[in-house]
Amino acid sequence: MSEAEEAVDEQKFFSLEGQVAIVTGGGQGIGEGIVQRLHAAGARVAVFDLKEELAKSVAASMGGLGVQCDVSSSASVQKAVQEVRNKLGPIDIVVNNAGIAGRTLPLWELNENDLDAVYAVNVRGVFLMCKAVIQEMLDRRYGRILNVASIAGKEGNPTLGPYSASKAAVIAFTKSLAKEVAGKGDITVNSIAPAVIRTKILDGLAKETVQYMVSRIPMGRTGTIEEVAALVHYLVSREASFTTGQCYDISGGRATY
Ligand SMILES: NC(=O)c1ccc[n+]([C@@H]2O[C@H](COP(=O)([O-])OP(=O)(O)OC[C@H]3O[C@@H](n4cnc5c(N)ncnc54)[C@H](O)[C@@H]3O)[C@@H](O)[C@H]2O)c1
Repeated sequence: MSEAEEAVDEQKFFSLEGQVAIVTGGGQGIGEGIVQRLHAAGARVAVFDLKEELAKSVAASMGGLGVQCDVSSSASVQKAVQEVRNKLGPIDIVVNNAGIAGRTLPLWELNENDLDAVYAVNVRGVFLMCKAVIQEMLDRRYGRILNVASIAGKEGNPTLGPYSASKAAVIAFTKSLAKEVAGKGDITVNSIAPAVIRTKILDGLAKETVQYMVSRIPMGRTGTIEEVAALVHYLVSREASFTTGQCYDISGGRATY
């Protein structure tokens, strides 16, 4: 039997058996889908969410750990990550999925609080979560970080200025961190750029904004949570070891680069 056949035969392929994963914003939507997928692949998953009841109920459904965490707060992130270390052990995988869209308005109707609120979760949140786990990953010479950006971060969506800018920041931060840790063990840092995925985040957006986003997708449909979770699963697996600093498209053909 070849090495490749052996790997499949022993069901090692994309297995996350024995690994510890954190998924932020895992209480609903895309995050919940990622939690379920990583759990199905054998990971012990910690579900972080601002809303404690969501984190606990998703975690309870699969025997995982639900932790209340506000990713925009340094103290909250440090406390939550320490709880994972104490209860599940060292962290192999972090999926920074928590994010907010902010108000859908043109710039002339926004104020600086709109910018700060979106940046606090989408940018500071990713920065703080990465900072909380990176030294441990360097010490263990292993880690997978996956940041959920957006097609808005590549193209910019009208009426979503702060959100689009924050996701561009996530893509660039991912590239910087990936280069800082490259060659220091098997640590990768990647991002993904989904187009519209049907979740509750869309409920807070203006109808015209959602219509605009769907109209830009050549496949003419929204993506599914399962499609996003499958891509994330690959990128956080051991097998994805020679890919870092990349932003993966999952946009039904919308992205042109
Ligand atoms: N749905 C889409 O079309 C789409 C497209 C591209 C990118 N994204 C990104 O995917 C990610 C998930 O989006 P979704 O559609 O599942 O959103 P959602 O609103 O359904 O879920 C987001 C989750 O994050 C949690 N959260 C919010 N602020 C938090 C904080 N400060 N700390 C911890 N948790 C917090 C919420 O409680 C919620 O459970 C976001 O980063 C979003 O920007 C979504």
